[in-house]
Amino acid sequence: MFDEIQFNTINRLPNYVFAEINEIKMKARRRGEDIIDFSMGNPDGNTPPHIVQKLIETAKKPKNNRYSVSKGIYKLRLAICDWYKRKYGIDLDPETEAVATMGSKEGYVHLAQAITNPGDVAIVPEPAYPIHTHAFIIAGGNVVKMNFNFNDKYELDYESFFDNLNQAIKDSMPKPKFVVVNFPHNPTTVTVKKDFYERLVALAKKERFYILSDIAYADLTYDGYKTPSIFEVEGAKDVAVESFTLSKSYNMAGWRVGFIVGNPKLIGALQKIKSWFDYGMFTPIQVAATVALNGPDDCVKEITEIYRKRRDVLLKSFDNAGWKIDKPNATMFIWAKIPEEFRYLGSMEFSKELLQEAKVAVSPGIGFGEHGDEYVRIALIENHNRIRQAARNIKHYFKTKRTK
Ligand SMILES: Cc1ncc(COP(=O)(O)O)c(C=O)c1O
Repeated sequence: MFDEIQFNTINRLPNYVFAEINEIKMKARRRGEDIIDFSMGNPDGNTPPHIVQKLIETAKKPKNNRYSVSKGIYKLRLAICDWYKRKYGIDLDPETEAVATMGSKEGYVHLAQAITNPGDVAIVPEPAYPIHTHAFIIAGGNVVKMNFNFNDKYELDYESFFDNLNQAIKDSMPKPKFVVVNFPHNPTTVTVKKDFYERLVALAKKERFYILSDIAYADLTYDGYKTPSIFEVEGAKDVAVESFTLSKSYNMAGWRVGFIVGNPKLIGALQKIKSWFDYGMFTPIQVAATVALNGPDDCVKEITEIYRKRRDVLLKSFDNAGWKIDKPNATMFIWAKIPEEFRYLGSMEFSKELLQEAKVAVSPGIGFGEHGDEYVRIALIENHNRIRQAARNIKHYFKTKRTK
């Protein structure tokens, strides 16, 4: 019935590429199979106890049952600004330059809603975290994708990035209004240094576009690498906003709390649209998030150390299994190039075989865009024993596949 009535926004959203893998995974589990699951960036650790304690304490106070503040309670916005000051030496105004969001995903989607006119163009480097693209599609905009390269330490190749970006700007009609960046990057783990943002901010001012920078993995860095903020660049606030989340640094993914800061015009737009969409996160979550951000930061260091150790165990045991993978220095992921002899399968088929034959679930790179098809993403959300078990299963799968 009503076939002639179409929902254009929904029609523009593709089917979820990971759904196919999830379906096979669920069926295997229902058959009682033990699947070692590296597929989602969904932290498996506990939220630090002092944060949970604060939530409980605050939830017991009846006044906190009331509607909260959609842009975030003042204390939380202050804690966000203090976090930036401590970490990066950057000054932000909690009234005009910070918004607390229900995770950075919600913030990002609503920001796109607030600032996109129909047909506006956003440039998104690909492979990409799917929301970076589809937030603009939902908002009625268009996305121009561009590829980027990196070396065997997963460091961005600036020259090819800026060549591709300049070309994308030149080819785009109308001119792009937004450029999205996300370093350390999901899914590739690629990192940049401050000089990258110096060049990007200068280009944004010349070509007149806004920069949306996502630093969800800012804290999850290893071997001396430190994530820069775009606001370390003089004048970046004129053209940029930056988002962060408590999901990863504090194992708080289910709590749904993050924030976006920076350019007052964009932040004002997000504050305004949020005031129409929601009444704010449950106040106790905001108070607990304030406690998390105010520190101490030992828990963040402990969480980071867990991922670092898992990274090392995984690289070593997979190497023993015959799968040599380069070492990333950030995020909770490994962006693993499919062994050459199996690359012909493509990432979707390879992931399906890993799941069916080795009982190991990963995310196929194609799910992050066509440039990801030679890779799979492995999330470091299983313990050392299970990582080693996965390596043994994979070794066996490789061996039987070779002899077929
Ligand atoms: C790059 C990036 N940004 C944002 C998010 C969303 O995180 P949340 O909505 O939990 O803050 C994720 C989640 O995996 C991510 O990988």
